Amino acid sequence: MASKIPGPSRIATLLGLLPVPFQRFPEFMRRSTARYGNVVAFALPWRSYVFINDPEPLKDMFVTQQHAFSKSLGARVLRLLLGEGLLTSEEPLHRKMRRIVQPAFHHERIAEYERIMERDAREFAEMLRLGEAFDAHAAMMELTLRIASETLFGSDESDSAAAVADALRLMMTEFSAMLTPIGALRQRLPLRNTRRFWRARRALDAIIYDLIARRRRNGTQRVDALSMLLVAQASESAPLSDEQLRDEIMTLFIAGHETTANLLTWTLYLLAQHPDVDARTAAAARAGDRSYLNRVLKEVLRLYPPAWIIGREALRDVTLAGGGFIPRGTTVFAAPLMLHRRPDLFSDPDEFDPDRWLGPEPPPFAYVPFGGGARRCIGDEFALREASIVLQALVSRFRFELAPGARVEIAPLVTLRPAGPVMMGAIAR
Ligand code: HEM
Repeated sequence: MASKIPGPSRIATLLGLLPVPFQRFPEFMRRSTARYGNVVAFALPWRSYVFINDPEPLKDMFVTQQHAFSKSLGARVLRLLLGEGLLTSEEPLHRKMRRIVQPAFHHERIAEYERIMERDAREFAEMLRLGEAFDAHAAMMELTLRIASETLFGSDESDSAAAVADALRLMMTEFSAMLTPIGALRQRLPLRNTRRFWRARRALDAIIYDLIARRRRNGTQRVDALSMLLVAQASESAPLSDEQLRDEIMTLFIAGHETTANLLTWTLYLLAQHPDVDARTAAAARAGDRSYLNRVLKEVLRLYPPAWIIGREALRDVTLAGGGFIPRGTTVFAAPLMLHRRPDLFSDPDEFDPDRWLGPEPPPFAYVPFGGGARRCIGDEFALREASIVLQALVSRFRFELAPGARVEIAPLVTLRPAGPVMMGAIAR
C-alpha cells in the first residue's frame, strides 16, 4: 500500500470492487474520493493502486515526471491484440514510431481525409430509414469503421468489419478477466472464448498483412495513412518489418474507430434528451457553424469521455506534486469520467451545457479526454473532424428520438460504451 496516501482497507476494497472490478470502479472511486480526498491509495491482494482525481499530480504523471511511468497492465493486455503499436509500446520504440506515424496526422493530411469522411457520412445519412428503430451504437461503429478503413488504409475493408467487430467484442469481454492474476493463465487455456479470440486475431492479421503486401507491390501514391507510413519508414536507417507495420495499423484501426463511435453515440443520446441544444445544433449544422458543433462535442467528451480511464505503472518510487509518495510497481489511474465531473472544476457538472465552453477554460489538466504529454492521443484532431462532419450530416436532416422504454446505461470497459443497444428513431426535420 502506498504510504501516506489515504484510502480504504483491503477488505473494503475487495467488497467494493469484486467480482467485476472494471464495472464497479467508478462507484467505488466516487465513494473513496468523497471519503479520502482526490488522491486515494487502495490495494487488491495482487497489486497496489493509486487513483488520481486532481489536475496537479495528473500533470506531473503525464508530463513533468512521465519518465517515472510506463503504460499499465491494461496496455500489456491490449498488446495481445495491438502488438507493439503506438498505444502500447514503451520508450525508446514509442518515440521512434511516433515520429514515423505523425505525418499521417498532420493538419493538411486531415484536410484530405475530410472528403472521405464527408462522403461516407452523406451516404450513411441517405441510407437511414425514417421511423424505423435502429441501434445507434452499432450504426456509429459501422460508420466509423468504414471511415477508418478508407482514410487509414485507402481501401474499403467493411467486408472485414464483422471480423474486426468480433475480435473487438471478445477483447472487451475478456479484458476485465485478463486483469486478474488468473488472467494470464486464461490466455493459455483452451477455453472457448480464448480460442475464439485467437481465431479472430488471426483473421484480422490476415486482412492487414494482405493490405501491406498489396501496398508494397503497388506503390504508395495515395493519401491514406498506410502510404504515409511506408514513405516515412523508407527514410529510416532500418525500414520497418511487416510485423511492426501490422502493429501500427492494427492500433490505428482499433483506436481510430471505437472511441469516435462512442463519442458519436453519446452525442446522439444527449441531443435526444436536450431538445434546446438539439435545435441549436441543427441550426449550426445547416449554417456550417463549426464552432457550435465543436462545443457540443467538447461537452460530450467531458460528460462521456470514451477513454474514461487512463493507467500507468510506476517504474520507480516517485513523489507526485500534491499527490504523495507512490512506491515502484504501483498502478496509477486517472479517470476523465470522474475528473470532468468535479463540481469545483466544472459548475453544475452533470448538466449538458455546450455553452459552458464560452466561459473561462478549466485549469490545465482538469479536462483530459485525449490524455496529455508525450502519450497524448495522436488522433485528436482526426476524431474531432470526423465526429463534427458526421454530426453535421445527421442533425441537419434528422432529429433523433430514443425508442420508447429505452434505458441507456454506461459500460465502463476498455472504453466507455453504452451497456446495450441504443435504440433510436430518426425523424425528418
Ligand atoms: C473521441 C475519440 C478519441 C478519444 C477520446 C481518444 C483518447 C485517447 C487517449 C486518452 C489517449 C492516451 C492514452 C494514455 O495516455 O494512456 C489516446 C492515445 C492514442 N490514440 Fe486516441 N482517442 C480518440 C481517437 C483516436 C483516433 C481517431 C486515432 C487514430 C486514428 C487515435 C489513435 C491513438 C493512438 C495511436 C494513441 C497512442 C498515442 C501514443 O501513445 O503516442 N485515437 N487516445
